[in-house]
Parts: sequence; C-alpha cells; structure tokens
Amino acid sequence: MDAVECAAKWFQTSQKVAVITGAGISTESGIPDFRSGEGLYNEETEQGIPMEDVLSWSFFSEHPREFYRLFNEKLLFPDARPNTGHFFLKRLEDAGHDVTIITQNIDGLHQKAGSTRVLELHGNAGKIITEYGSEKSLDEAVRDEKEMRVDGEWARPAITLYGEALDRKVLQESVQAISEADILLVMGTSLNVYPAAGLIFEYNGNRSVLVNREGTPLSDGFACVFSRPIGEWVEEVQQYLDA
Ligand code: OAD
Repeated sequence: MDAVECAAKWFQTSQKVAVITGAGISTESGIPDFRSGEGLYNEETEQGIPMEDVLSWSFFSEHPREFYRLFNEKLLFPDARPNTGHFFLKRLEDAGHDVTIITQNIDGLHQKAGSTRVLELHGNAGKIITEYGSEKSLDEAVRDEKEMRVDGEWARPAITLYGEALDRKVLQESVQAISEADILLVMGTSLNVYPAAGLIFEYNGNRSVLVNREGTPLSDGFACVFSRPIGEWVEEVQQYLDA
C-alpha cells in the first residue's frame, strides 16, 4: 500500500477528523501565503516596514491610515473562491465524518466551501468587531481611510494582530477537537506561529498527516508527510475514497 492509499484508508476508518489549515490551503485560490517565496512577508511598506510588523496591534494603533490601506490591498480577497482543498474537507463532512476545521486563515473560504464547523484562530477579515464587542459584517461598516464605524461605534477588523491574545473559547474548542480526534490532518501551514502550531501536540493518536509543499520545524512528528501541492494530493486521495 502506498502512502496516499494508506492515508485514504485512515480517513475511511476515522469518525472524528480534526484539520488544522494555514495560508497554503488558499494559495490555489489566488491568495498569497506569508512565508513562501511569493509570500506577503517578503514585502515591506514604502517606508521600509516589514509586512509582518504591519500586522501588529502597535502598528495598527500608531498608523491606522497605512494599516487600512495595506489591509484593503493585501488582506481582503472578496472575490476569492474555495478550491479543491477546501471542497475536500466539505466532502469528508458530507461523507458522514465528524470534521472540525481549525484554521489560521482569515479568508472565510472554508465556510464558503460549505464546511460547518470552522474554528478561526486568527479571526475573519470579512468581519468587524465594535468597541463594545459585537461582531458585524465588514459590509456594515462605514469606512474612511483610517477608521471604521458602525452605528456610530468605533470598530476594527475582527482579526488577531501580533501582540494580541487569541480568543480563549476558540482555542479551548480547538484543543478539545484535536485531543478527541481519530485522525489529524494539517494542511498548508509552515507551523511557525504559536499557539496555532503547538496545537498539534494535543493530538493523542497515531494517524497524523501533514500536507505542505515545504518542510516545517515540526514535520518529523507526523506519521505521514506529503511535501506536495494540496490540490494534487487531494485529487489522488479522492480517487481512493471514490473507488
Ligand atoms: P505560511 O506562509 O507561514 O505557511 C504556508 C505554508 O503553505 C508554506 O510552508 C508553503 O510551503 C505551504 N504552501 C503554500 N501553497 C501550498 C500549496 N498549494 N500546497 C501545499 N502547501 C502549500 O502561512 P501560515 O502557516 O498559515 O497570522 O502562517 C501562520 C500565521 O502567520 C498566519 O495565520 C498569519 C501569519 O502571521 C496572523 O496574521 C495573526
């Protein structure tokens, strides 16, 4: 049995599937990731500030105009559509598996693919949060160059910036789903950013699968590693699942 067939068998015989996704699952939808050759973190602002620093609470509070300009230009992809990778996870759910997707992505593409249990570790760029804590759609905000307001209240994008804590409830639910999972599938993440990367250590089984084009600092801990494009891998696994 080859490795892809083996992974497909694991899916067929696993009820609870926990999936951790990162930017690499959305590159095939035209959204750049962060740390690859064409990733966002290879860029800097006109003032020479690395993009990684732009996505921080301190940059946002000190330079809101520049933050919003880059947010609109680099982080919003309203026309992006889900790809083979996102639809694969939806199909697992349709096939009767109990699928929980824990994503670091802010693009909302898992939900657009129809997946129902999606835990967003870093928030969602299509949503905003008001100063009194209510969550609304970005479309409801009145926006100018350096500010968002909704019904007179100050608001901000509902994404987690460096220097901010992750939502505790989302983190707890993620830990629970991973610790109870029969299989752990990790797709398209460099496993560089914590606490997201550390979630893999919550998994208690021996069916851990990593699909990522490049190696990661934590690759050695996986039972099965596929260093290939997600779309290509999915098509192959799907053939075994459909057979
Ligand atoms: P990274 O850019 O760090 O990693 C994406 C990984 O996906 C890379 O290792 C690529 O090799 C791989 N990849 C890209 N396209 C792929 C494809 N089609 N098939 C297979 N693999 C592919 O992105 P994340 O790990 O998601 O946080 O980054 C984690 C966090 O860092 C992000 O959520 C963001 C960023 O700072 C915040 O903004 C809070």
